[in-house]
Amino acid sequence: MNRKDFITKCGWSCVGAFVTPALLLRCAGTKYVSAPIEGSELVVPISSFEIKKEGTVHFRKYLVVENELLQFPIYVSREDETAYRAMWMQCTHQGAELHPYGEVLQCPAHGSEFGSDGEVANGPASVSLRSFATVVEEGNLKITLR
Ligand code: FES
Repeated sequence: MNRKDFITKCGWSCVGAFVTPALLLRCAGTKYVSAPIEGSELVVPISSFEIKKEGTVHFRKYLVVENELLQFPIYVSREDETAYRAMWMQCTHQGAELHPYGEVLQCPAHGSEFGSDGEVANGPASVSLRSFATVVEEGNLKITLR
């Protein structure tokens, strides 16, 4: 193997090492929803939380909402039919994007963890996640982006 082949193979191996875990994280049961922005609100259909199984409807405890205009996704947890929490998925330590693992948000940079309420569960982060006001109207969850 010559130098060029070696560098090419090592390059693709490195790409695979970084991309594969990211793809696996996205497939690990977390639902991602692309939602439109109307005015200053992100509008998420409540039906996005529904899981229909054998004639009954259950609700997801959380999902991740994205919009191409947002720099980071928003983690939305559901407490009941009218109570939702929406949190910016940017680590408050040094700004990395958080990854959802069930009801915990983990930072791949230095290991901080946040609960589904946005509070710091493990440092080095020491500040809670930015949160947004939410309201349920006409079958939609509206997240105010101010
Ligand atoms: S950027 Fe998240 S723990 Fe450092």
